[in-house]
Amino acid sequence: MNSDDDHVVASIRQRLIAANEPVTSARIEHYVREYAVALGDEAVADISRALERQLLGAGALQQLLDLPGVTDVLVNGPQDIWVDRGQGLQRTRVILGSDADLRTLAMRLAANAGCRLDDACPTADGRLPDGTRFHAVLAPLVDAAAVISLRVPQTQSWQLPQLVEQAMIPALWEPILAQIVAARIGVVVSGATGAGKTTVLAALLRAAGAYERIVLIEESRELMVEHPHLVALQSRRVNAEGSGEITLSQLVKESLRMRPDRIVVGEVRGAEIRELLLAFNTGHRGGAVTLHANSAQDVPARLVSLGQLAGLSPAVVADQATTAFSVVMHVRRAYHQGQLRRFVSNVAVLAGRGDTPSAPGSAITSLDALTWRGYGPSREGPGWAELQRLLTAAQQVV
Ligand SMILES: Nc1ncnc2c1ncn2[C@@H]1O[C@H](COP(=O)(O)OP(=O)(O)OP(=O)(O)O)[C@@H](O)[C@H]1O
Ligand SMILES: [Mg+2]
Repeated sequence: MNSDDDHVVASIRQRLIAANEPVTSARIEHYVREYAVALGDEAVADISRALERQLLGAGALQQLLDLPGVTDVLVNGPQDIWVDRGQGLQRTRVILGSDADLRTLAMRLAANAGCRLDDACPTADGRLPDGTRFHAVLAPLVDAAAVISLRVPQTQSWQLPQLVEQAMIPALWEPILAQIVAARIGVVVSGATGAGKTTVLAALLRAAGAYERIVLIEESRELMVEHPHLVALQSRRVNAEGSGEITLSQLVKESLRMRPDRIVVGEVRGAEIRELLLAFNTGHRGGAVTLHANSAQDVPARLVSLGQLAGLSPAVVADQATTAFSVVMHVRRAYHQGQLRRFVSNVAVLAGRGDTPSAPGSAITSLDALTWRGYGPSREGPGWAELQRLLTAAQQVV
């Protein structure tokens, strides 16, 4: 290829990146032919191959993504790359080249994920064609040329019995969790980053009846659930012209017109809480979400602060949240005998202050019904009777 071709490659790469769509070999060839109609087949093939090398695959990171058991690959700089293989973060010896190489890689991965990433739009969030969740931030928002976070997709989606096999829940809880799903009780799966929330949510959804229509709403497609009737909606960021954004809030509203039996939001982290609370308080039962929270006890405060983002007062959130989400399942990562484990540590019920004496200063409280340390026996807590009551009450409705 000569320098003219380099120029053509750079221009087409720019167009492909700006198009905001997943990059595939077919799309590359289409763009090359469209850009330079006068090019012969050989030149088209040469330029397409050059673009494929630049735009497809994860380059030097691929070897890390392919490691057995790897869940996360995190790039903080060209020589500062970490992996999580289930036992916490470990630094690798992989070197990505210069700052410029790292920036190019971040932009290439963004193009693969069909997102825009450049100086005007320096953050990107999407999924690579193989399902890997991709997030990147460019300098000067970060110290390095780029910071990239990759989450490897889970190849299998677990059901509740597999959560028991993987020691994520004690065997005694399996029928209780199945009953919570069958009773169409709204659930918040809470936990810290990477704790296993999405994994637990997927297992819960697999327990939903095959006759139920699940409408799943996510920022980028992640939750893999084998269910015969699942419709997945994905939000969209603004495009290069600053328009075209579709928010999670809009999708929750749309989902109400789609005859959902269950509305599920992969991760609630903003003003969409308002539409969700409204939906779950107006007859749409059995919804489920994940939420970042440090403990089950923190969930009420998190819901209140998300509600405030959407202009809802704590009193309104308190009023609506206990109907919308009666149960919290908290997922933890903790060491036991030198092994880092992921497990559900609490099944709690959300109650209004009026329902319980023990919540000074907060309008809602989370009461443990069951707790577990990840090993040994589980324990019943002060919310156990309330959980039983919810399950009995739901049986009478279903
Ligand atoms: N019990 C487990 N054993 C091994 N790997 C697991 C287990 N549970 C989850 N994982 C893996 O850990 C990673 C994080 O899990 P998951 O996506 O469920 O967490 P999360 O809490 O939803 O994360 P985030 O905060 O990023 O949304 C995934 O790659 C998943 O496949
Ligand atoms: Mg998640």
